[in-house]
Amino acid sequence: MIHAAPWDDQEALEIVTRHRQLPGAALPILHALQERFGYIDRAAIPMVAEVLNLSQAEIHGVVAFYDDFREQPPGRHTLRLCRAEACQAMGANALVAQAEKRLRAGLGATTLDGKVSLAAVYCLGNCACAPALMLDGELIGRVDAARLDQLLDRLENAA
Ligand code: FES
Repeated sequence: MIHAAPWDDQEALEIVTRHRQLPGAALPILHALQERFGYIDRAAIPMVAEVLNLSQAEIHGVVAFYDDFREQPPGRHTLRLCRAEACQAMGANALVAQAEKRLRAGLGATTLDGKVSLAAVYCLGNCACAPALMLDGELIGRVDAARLDQLLDRLENAA
């Protein structure tokens, strides 16, 4: 489960202000906001732009450029599928297709009920047990279609 705080303008402004002196402050600020809230709320764009004296377009460009930044609140659960080389060689693409089909959500998206976010990751350091994935922080290796189905069942029955 992700334990992100609900978005709060006041707290966000404190985070932005606290990091404003860092070199290239936009990136560390955005990372800090995402770490706290799980995503970058739309309200952050003008806030960060004003504090750093940059344009909103510049800040939005940074958020849009990096895949790591989410612009929507994350789901209550996160399934990360490894798409790096070793996992690709062991059938990761088929697992991605299976998860996307069953969750009816693409990589980088969250299911309509807000329950599961599906994400790509590029190496989980578990190449010897490829293909690998991470479900709510739990690293799972040697995943095949049946195992993924079990994990998706688990998600279906979870809160
Ligand atoms: S390539 Fe997937 S864990 Fe390393």
